[in-house]
Amino acid sequence: MARVRKAVFPVAGLGTRMLPATKVMPKELLPVVDRPVIQYALEEARASGIEEFIFVTAGGKTLIEDHFDRAEQLFASLLSKGKTEAVAELEAALPRAGQVVYTRQQQPLGLGHAVWCARHIVGDEPFAVGLVDDLILGGEPCFGELIAAHERTGGNVVATMEVPYAHTKRYGILDAGDVDGRLVAAKAMVEKPDPEWAPSRYAVIGRYVLLPEIFEHLDRQDPGAGGEIQLTDAMAKMLGDKPFHGYLFSGQRHDCGDKLGYLEAIVAAALRRPDLKDEFATLLERYR
Ligand code: UTP
Repeated sequence: MARVRKAVFPVAGLGTRMLPATKVMPKELLPVVDRPVIQYALEEARASGIEEFIFVTAGGKTLIEDHFDRAEQLFASLLSKGKTEAVAELEAALPRAGQVVYTRQQQPLGLGHAVWCARHIVGDEPFAVGLVDDLILGGEPCFGELIAAHERTGGNVVATMEVPYAHTKRYGILDAGDVDGRLVAAKAMVEKPDPEWAPSRYAVIGRYVLLPEIFEHLDRQDPGAGGEIQLTDAMAKMLGDKPFHGYLFSGQRHDCGDKLGYLEAIVAAALRRPDLKDEFATLLERYR
């Protein structure tokens, strides 16, 4: 079985829920404590053994490329002040030369279309997809958990978590079969069901390991909900054909594409930082 070596990060969305912050700045560069949201996703992928990072970008997103590049002037200035540790940290956070690939989604035709734009770079091998808005803190690196589950099942694996029935309308929901530990067999997927129609509480969140056959389904380019080419529709076509599972990942997921989710992500990330947590907890007390 081919090893999962590549991760696709679709970052071509407009980020309208975070306007006006995202009018000029890509939402993927919004900071959570002191690093952009996208940096967490890259670090998680790296800690999971991913070797090639494929970003599907759009106009106005070139700052993402700058973020993952060396900043010679800054480095020289820091070094001249003796800040060698700061430079070493910045360098360690960078992907190695040739590990990062950018392609463009020329029109915002949907998440499925964005993933399809990476088809030639991915080629004929299983690959990971990460939605950067979903910030996962704690636990094991989520991509790594999905990759291990893929190696066991040989099929598609999506990250899942149980949500209250009142929230099923916000997510793709699995119609679940057998549950074996953290592995949930998927019989079907229902997009954003009302609580009374939801087949389970297993919500799909933005981490996937997919077989390359997904591209054959995306090739047909049928627009779905909202007139967009949906990744969920193409994934649903593989159900029954190939093994398909949800994996109850061990970390905590925060939705940074949404105002409240973003604020919570900052609080949660700061409270996990040994250098900040005590003083930050004291500061939060003042706002109770
Ligand atoms: P969202 O539904 O969060 O849309 O996309 P968005 O445009 O990014 O944000 P809002 O809703 O306007 O605030 C889910 C993921 O799919 C990517 C986004 O970048 C995000 O990671 N996406 C979406 C694309 O890359 N291209 C698209 O055409 C649509």
